[in-house]
Amino acid sequence: MARSVRLVPALLAPVLTLTACGGGVHGTPGGSGVRDPYFPKAGNGGYDVSHYGLRLAYDPDAHRLTGTATLTARATQDLSAFNLDLLGMEVEKVTVGGETARWNRAGQELTVRPHGDIDRDDTFRVTVRYSGAPETVTDPDGSREGWLRTSDGVLALGEPTGSMTWFPGNHHPSDKAAYDLTVSVPRGLRAVSNGELRSETTARSRTTFVWRTGEPMASYLATLAIGRFDISRSRAGGGLPVYTAVDPVEAAASRPVLERIPEVLRWAERRFGPYPFSSTGAIVDRAADLGYALETQNRPVFPGAPGMTLLVHELAHQWYGDSVSPKSWRDMWLNEGFATYAEWLWEEDHGGRSARETFDALYSGDYFATEEAGEAVWAFPPAEPPSAARISEPPVYWRGAMVLEKVRQAVGDEAFWRILKGWAAEYRHGNADTADFTAYVEEQAPGVDFEAVWEDWLYGEGKPERA
Ligand code: ARG
Ligand code: ZN
Repeated sequence: MARSVRLVPALLAPVLTLTACGGGVHGTPGGSGVRDPYFPKAGNGGYDVSHYGLRLAYDPDAHRLTGTATLTARATQDLSAFNLDLLGMEVEKVTVGGETARWNRAGQELTVRPHGDIDRDDTFRVTVRYSGAPETVTDPDGSREGWLRTSDGVLALGEPTGSMTWFPGNHHPSDKAAYDLTVSVPRGLRAVSNGELRSETTARSRTTFVWRTGEPMASYLATLAIGRFDISRSRAGGGLPVYTAVDPVEAAASRPVLERIPEVLRWAERRFGPYPFSSTGAIVDRAADLGYALETQNRPVFPGAPGMTLLVHELAHQWYGDSVSPKSWRDMWLNEGFATYAEWLWEEDHGGRSARETFDALYSGDYFATEEAGEAVWAFPPAEPPSAARISEPPVYWRGAMVLEKVRQAVGDEAFWRILKGWAAEYRHGNADTADFTAYVEEQAPGVDFEAVWEDWLYGEGKPERA
């Protein structure tokens, strides 16, 4: 495959940047990935996107999407060329700074050669006009993401990489950006996305929805649901807008749970600190036959009416995952361990078993119905999944949460509450990795020895000797 060829410029880039000089061609191509340990081609080097302006039109019957993506980015090196990630679709035109640019494609890499070089620190605007029938992607773990067609529209979402099926971009969680999405759909259907609905206008046979996500968002948290939905708008505490879009067949079962979003957020703010975004809600879509929920920013997606535990999990991700995002896909436990621990805390705070009791049940093998399920928790260390296919497996969720319970036991409740809130505050709207986490915890609890916790619970193979 061309993959090794494309990696060469990325590896040479720092060297060439040092030796190249002014005048004529001084830039080098940006990398075709950001060296994610699990998804090496995800994201691109050489620039940082601050804003996506997406103008889309979808025709569900013809299964045809037409789009113009306008990215505002800052060069982090002198650039003669740079890559975007886009999987499938046909590219019709690319401009940089208003001028037509050359481009070519290989797999998910769209390489753009601007008319002139871009200087380091320059802010530039790139537009990509594209169209086609967006693809559905099968993840390394077998789940489906990307552009999932439904009986009346689509559910677009993707962790870790499905977003590259419906818009070109820097599809890696390390590059977060604001979004403005304008999408037109046949009259009668609705289009629901992240952030806040700014306008909705119907002209002739189509309705156009404008959504804005002002706070930085990783592209894997972007979503677009098109179809027939029951819409509800209300306000949570402090006037926070709540927008829910529910598959009509799931409406009755969803209502009593989704009505509790304000209550869950009130509880979560007490535990995790201020809610990091300017709106909330949910999307429930059974038609996509998804099989999992996803913490899409502001507005998590559920494959059917959620239960309280799942609602708590996805809302907790808004702090842990969406606001504090992983630096790479290796850091997935920082998302899932925290969201799972939030479930335990919710139970503890609502008259159920304590997090320590949940931990003990997991350790003794009494938590799951089968022995195999119980054993799966010890398959690998949460901070080091063995492959891309396994970043959403039980050790990342349950053993990740067990790490947090170990921290709580080591520092005591008061300090632990400070750490939960402090972690969300310290990396709010940013990115963090496991080393940032261990350093943060150590800093917050001077004198406590975490050596064994990190070694046995976070990085150790197999089941730790002692609970
Ligand atoms: N992050 C989602 C959650 O725990 C699950 C995503 C599953 N995706 C996957 N590719 N396995 O809420
Ligand atoms: Zn999760």
